[in-house]
Amino acid sequence: MRHYALTGPCPLSGEVHIGGAKNSALKMMAAALLVPGRVTLERVPKITDVLLMAEVLERLGADVSFEDDLLTIDASGDLLEETPYELVTKMRASIQVLGPLLARLGRARVAMPGGDAIGSRPIDMHLQGLERMGAKFSSEHGYVEGVADRLRGTRVLLEFPSVGATENLIMAAATAEGTTQIENAAREPEIQDLARFLNACGARITGLGTPTLNIEGVEELGPCRHQVIPDRIEAGTYAIGAAASRGDVRLLDVQPEHLELPLQKLEDAGAEVHRGDGEVRVAMSGRARSIDMVTLPYPGFPTDLQPPMMVLLAQAGGSSILTENVFEARFLFVDELNRMGSQIRVEGHHAVIRGVERLSGAPVRAPDIRAGAALVLGGLCAEGETQVYDVGHIQRGYEDFVEKLRGMGADVTLVEDTS
Ligand code: EPZ
Repeated sequence: MRHYALTGPCPLSGEVHIGGAKNSALKMMAAALLVPGRVTLERVPKITDVLLMAEVLERLGADVSFEDDLLTIDASGDLLEETPYELVTKMRASIQVLGPLLARLGRARVAMPGGDAIGSRPIDMHLQGLERMGAKFSSEHGYVEGVADRLRGTRVLLEFPSVGATENLIMAAATAEGTTQIENAAREPEIQDLARFLNACGARITGLGTPTLNIEGVEELGPCRHQVIPDRIEAGTYAIGAAASRGDVRLLDVQPEHLELPLQKLEDAGAEVHRGDGEVRVAMSGRARSIDMVTLPYPGFPTDLQPPMMVLLAQAGGSSILTENVFEARFLFVDELNRMGSQIRVEGHHAVIRGVERLSGAPVRAPDIRAGAALVLGGLCAEGETQVYDVGHIQRGYEDFVEKLRGMGADVTLVEDTS
């Protein structure tokens, strides 16, 4: 057991370098299973989820090495078809091996992921899309088993622009027979990055960044080297942290255009934002103004930045309404934040936030990655001492979290609990 101990209030100031995007790197790692050769990914964050995905790939038969931020995957040998329950429950993104395994082996057996702390997380759209491409699924003993002689290109219209379903389908379609068209595809920058990576391996994917993707299947993919895009959610967390703590931070190695709506919302709330070439500076001198906002698929406001934004609005002058449209249970951490003195009432998928002058430090538990990071930001803003427990969640997604925060002047330490 470990926890973070913080003393506030403590404005974040200075500079922070942003690492590679977790949600890009994880999908490219799954996509490497499509390549009977060596794939090298640059700028991969050293976080628990990446290490878990490396374990998944090794269990499936790939060779993986990870030095500094360079990850090499060689899936040229024989691969197994089964991803076990114990790994899928630790990391939901392991469901992304389904498409690549079906495409490469013609069969796959992956444990059903189940729900998690941010809500019920079905995979029906993944399966329906793959079925349209010719796969057949059965499910037994908690596993979903798929078979397909050779996947065939087709038209798939997604009911909702699901990130995971779009990615599984792109990967499956890359080496399918004929052309696949995905409509109402998700447009997140990580999906564009995955498509660019696959194209560098020889795939033919067009329509990147639009709701209609065309994937002309190729016979085989080959080795490539690719640099992962900056993590917009890590960057957004620190940007909101700078504003919430009334600090002044320069975020380096970012793509400001991937953060446009969060930056606009920070401006609406009273922050000063300067967008530069590969960098963004966010400063806030007084109390934030209240604003209303909704989470939506990209380019809407990202659900992953909703919890940090809640911390900012919890101390705004006035009341805000925050509507969560992507994951129904993402408000579960509100009870923890309210332990720190915020006045937030949840009604269905709306949170009514009555801004208070200052939060006050308290012991709290991190229920998931983003809510965990938000509670740490809450501790920076709060008067007195805060302990954030269950920090394993945060370490899944934020590289060198404590070091980076300390580099911006935060009084935060990782404490090993002895009992
Ligand atoms: C990805 O999850 C990210 N995870 C999430 O980040 C992120 O919050 C989410 O996209 C939205 O941006 C990774 O990339 C590993 P979805 P994913 O499929 O792919 C429903 C983080 O903190 N749905 O777009 O699971 C689903 O229940 C994580 O880094 C179905 O109903 O998101 C949800 O309500 C957490 N059926 C909505 O769609 C399906 O078959 C969006 O899910 C698939 C999804």
